[in-house]
Amino acid sequence: MRLEGRVAIITGGAGGIGLATARRFLDEGCAGVHLVDLKADALGEAAAQLADDTRVGWTAADVSRSGEVARYTREAEQRFGKVDILFLNAGIEGVVKSMTEYPEETYDQVMGVNVKGVWLGMKHGFPVLERAGGGSVIITSSVAGLVGTPNVSAYTTSKHATIGLMRSGALEGAPLKIRVNSIHPSPVDNRMMRSLEEGFAPGAGVEAKKTFEMRIPLGRYGTNDEMADLALFLASDESRFITGAVIPIDGGMTA
Ligand SMILES: NC(=O)c1ccc[n+]([C@@H]2O[C@H](COP(=O)([O-])OP(=O)(O)OC[C@H]3O[C@@H](n4cnc5c(N)ncnc54)[C@H](O)[C@@H]3O)[C@@H](O)[C@H]2O)c1
Repeated sequence: MRLEGRVAIITGGAGGIGLATARRFLDEGCAGVHLVDLKADALGEAAAQLADDTRVGWTAADVSRSGEVARYTREAEQRFGKVDILFLNAGIEGVVKSMTEYPEETYDQVMGVNVKGVWLGMKHGFPVLERAGGGSVIITSSVAGLVGTPNVSAYTTSKHATIGLMRSGALEGAPLKIRVNSIHPSPVDNRMMRSLEEGFAPGAGVEAKKTFEMRIPLGRYGTNDEMADLALFLASDESRFITGAVIPIDGGMTA
């Protein structure tokens, strides 16, 4: 029980990595897991898949809107009495288009969710974590935050930007006993990669997957459960001296 009695907020909680992490956190003794995602019906379905719904709450909210972020942090704290862990994991991939053809509106959306959503999460979340006596913030960036990839300029930019937010958060959080780290997955075998495979090679997603896999020294995509394992480590006391860290989980892709 590595998270006995802890309470976590997980954004993107109805998605692949978020839901797998919720399950892992509950298995490790969390007293409460509060899921945040865009749609109430998806959240209801996600919560129904989790073992013990007395320990599961949710708020439908858009992480890029300040009022909605304030609401999800408030509802989590009110429901469970405190919040110790903030997994800022919601993200969108945007589209696959060259820099010159990339739609400006999509650029703004991607930056709004992937960057401002993380900033707002800490802005509204730090006071709540401080009231709990400190805590752990985990930001889901990507290998796209460490190296460039053509034709996904907004996503790549957004995932690089979260490193700056993470480092600022780590320095501001340290006196409050709040640790902040970012995880950097390679492709993970879930919905987001199916969308990107189709974007990179329309109608030939299977071939696109093989091409991605060839760029990963361990020869395969990661899984949602493997991302959950790393989030668990960073949420738990086992990582108590780790803050401000950029942590790839990528089968060696950026080695
Ligand atoms: N899947 C991959 O290969 C991969 C690789 C590296 C990083 N990531 C990152 O992992 C994180 C989780 O993604 P995933 O792989 O589970 O994909 P996913 O699409 O299954 O999950 C993302 C979730 O975020 C939610 N979301 C999107 N916009 C939101 C908003 N404005 N407000 C609230 N929720 C919103 C979606 O509804 C979805 O449930 C993302 O930040 C993603 O960029 C994914």
